[in-house]
Amino acid sequence: MKHFLTTSDFGQQELMNMIKTALVMKKSGWKKSLQDRILSMFFFNPSLRTRLSFITAMDKLGGLAVDLSSGSGGFPFEFKENAVMDKNTIEHVKEAVPVISRMSDAIAVRASELVTASSKSVKVLSWDEVKKDTTIQSFAKYATVPVVNMESNVYHPCQGLGDAMTIMEKLGNPKGKKYVLTWVYHPKALPMATANSQILSACDLGMQVTITYPEGWDLDEDIINTAKARARQTGGSLTLANSQQEAFQDAHIVCAKSWGSIRHYGAWSKEDKIKKGLKHWIVDKQKMDLTDNAYFMHCLPVRRNVEVTDEILDSLSSIVIDEAENRMWIQMAILDYLIGKKDKNHG
Ligand code: CP
Repeated sequence: MKHFLTTSDFGQQELMNMIKTALVMKKSGWKKSLQDRILSMFFFNPSLRTRLSFITAMDKLGGLAVDLSSGSGGFPFEFKENAVMDKNTIEHVKEAVPVISRMSDAIAVRASELVTASSKSVKVLSWDEVKKDTTIQSFAKYATVPVVNMESNVYHPCQGLGDAMTIMEKLGNPKGKKYVLTWVYHPKALPMATANSQILSACDLGMQVTITYPEGWDLDEDIINTAKARARQTGGSLTLANSQQEAFQDAHIVCAKSWGSIRHYGAWSKEDKIKKGLKHWIVDKQKMDLTDNAYFMHCLPVRRNVEVTDEILDSLSSIVIDEAENRMWIQMAILDYLIGKKDKNHG
């Protein structure tokens, strides 16, 4: 039994096998390898793509996805050890998760505290606290079936691996090609999870990866070091740049993503003031013209003419819809890998 919490828990060959399975399924068809399998899904935050792509992935493979979020208005679970539960929590994950496990073959969880916190209605924990990923790690601790991360505070591995599939679909062999992840302006402080997983996946593909962002918007150092180590294993590289123009030079892929600054973590009004001067961090034609006819990627949802101009998003270089569709195919491959019946061949 193995959880799917971050791609960095998996070997690069294992991940490549999942991508290849997804590409074969998309091109040539698939077997119903998840017949009688049940996926229980918990969304602690909103979702369009992830929710729909897991439901359709399970359905295509003959299984059933149960969305336990519907109408629940949140889950009053207790996560703390030795808690005296005399307030609002009504059930400890120590009971809830084993019960769910008895009736499910896998459990999928979306739990991103920053999405809630950036609404400014909740107390924001320090990055070190948020990084513990308490919700999904508690599910993983008490589950007796695989737990799949549908986006936590720290990782969004299904997005990262789906992006890797899309890159392979568009570029063929991406080894040595230039991948740029660019921070872009967004009116809200967004989680770093997607950016972290996108970088890990691009490094796993052996690409020449550059992350460009304004000073103060560095990603987590531990994750950058892991990505660098994984890039070394594939013959790729990872460099950091504060100049968007320099970073875009000769790129084959430009991926845009916004995230909140660790330096100002939780102090969002302070971050907001500094960020107001960074509205020029947008992807536009002038910058895309510096690239080697790069494809434009974005995980969606996207803020038009804030993160990227209409001209680029509506151009032939934009592959954001394929990228979103591929979430379904890669999740079919991930679920097949984790809980699929093993006596089948795809395609
Ligand atoms: N990209 C992504 O995860 O989209 P949703 O938030 O709509 O699931």
